Amino acid sequence: MVAIPLNDRLIVALDVPTAAAARDLVSRLGTAVSFYKIGLQLQYAGGIDLARELKDAGKKIFLDAKLFDIDQTVIGATANIARLGVDFLTVHAHRPTLRAAVAGRGKSGLRLLGVTVLTSMGPADMAELGTRFSLEEMVLRRAQAAIDTGCDGVIASGSEARQLRALAGNRLLIVTPGIRSEGVAADDQQRAATPREAIAAGADYLVVGRQILRSPDPGAAVEAILREVESALPRERTPRLQTLNLD
Ligand code: C5P
Repeated sequence: MVAIPLNDRLIVALDVPTAAAARDLVSRLGTAVSFYKIGLQLQYAGGIDLARELKDAGKKIFLDAKLFDIDQTVIGATANIARLGVDFLTVHAHRPTLRAAVAGRGKSGLRLLGVTVLTSMGPADMAELGTRFSLEEMVLRRAQAAIDTGCDGVIASGSEARQLRALAGNRLLIVTPGIRSEGVAADDQQRAATPREAIAAGADYLVVGRQILRSPDPGAAVEAILREVESALPRERTPRLQTLNLD
């Protein structure tokens, strides 16, 4: 198991309408949060400049671009994203797309995460995707593609984390969105898990948006999630004083 400082395990999704709102939240959260996700909403509202700014301020950045295009375009986009110096990038876990992203990142330290099946999807969406595989089979097949192509990890729900860990051992980072503590509305997430469940099942990182963004006290929401994460980590997975060098 990789040594990840406790604070780094929580990635806060900056799913807010403007860069100004994101800056405001980041300054409210201060040192409690070290890792931020910039997704599609903010990427079209100054999110790339914000990514550079937060990197300069010492934060880690997950650019959730969910790339999926022809190989040449994915290679070029990944190369440019690698130059931004962000830490994590998502790519749909279609084998040729993963391969293209690996080619595009070259020797940079950018970590590539394959999106297996969106956590907002359920079994009924598999037919819509046009696949004969079950949701679990799709997740595992796509994780295998991520391993085979040399990617660093996958995005998967807490429900699949245990099976993924069994499949991949330590060859993949498991990054889990769709996190909701007990009693918090699941919204559009069909495969939600609590922070404790996801970590206990083998997730390395949790991505949390609305539970923190909608809280009247986002700092307290962060603290509560970190306590849950800490309580679910086996002792050897709580190297609070060690740091993982993502560069
Ligand atoms: O608000 P909530 O905690 O549900 O936010 C989850 C975040 O994780 C969103 O930014 C969403 O885009 C992202 N995500 C997801 N499922 C995936 C990949 C990313 O929910 N499979």
